[in-house]
Amino acid sequence: MDQRDDGTDDEITVTCQVNGVEVRLTGSPARPASLALRELGLFSVRETCGLGICGTCTVRLDGEPVSTCILPLYGLDGCRVETAEGLAGDGRLNPLQERFIESQAFQCSFCTPGFLMSGQAMIEAAQGPLSGELIEEGLDGHLCRCGCYVAIKEALSSCAAGRACGDGELDESEANVR
Ligand code: FES
Ligand code: FES
Repeated sequence: MDQRDDGTDDEITVTCQVNGVEVRLTGSPARPASLALRELGLFSVRETCGLGICGTCTVRLDGEPVSTCILPLYGLDGCRVETAEGLAGDGRLNPLQERFIESQAFQCSFCTPGFLMSGQAMIEAAQGPLSGELIEEGLDGHLCRCGCYVAIKEALSSCAAGRACGDGELDESEANVR
């Protein structure tokens, strides 16, 4: 059993919307949200450090990227949660996922869902081209042990630029993550 989930607290039930579907999650209030989400089969939520420093457990909570390994279960209550599973729709990848493939922005891909969630938030907030500085800032707290940083930044930059010139317009699949 995870030491942060020692079962000594009374259980609570929280209600949240996960990738557009309302779900109820029950457990100790201190239980890491990452574990609760993985129990729903959302295996893009990957726990590595458990300390909030690597970014592999990142999801969007009401649009903001959050490390779920340090988010207690009660922090999900009433929130809109988006995970990488919600990015694609109708069998189509969203524009940022496509750019990751085009830029070969991964090797083992363990870190990829976390980078995608923060990257998607960054692109939506910018609504246009992203400077290298903004990308650096937005990816702070994400680690890639395979060292794909250059390609990841290229994918983000290219997706944001494409969107600015109309080549990454919101389509139905992207609309799913809003
Ligand atoms: S596992 Fe959550 S930040 Fe590393
Ligand atoms: S692609 Fe392997 S850790 Fe990033």
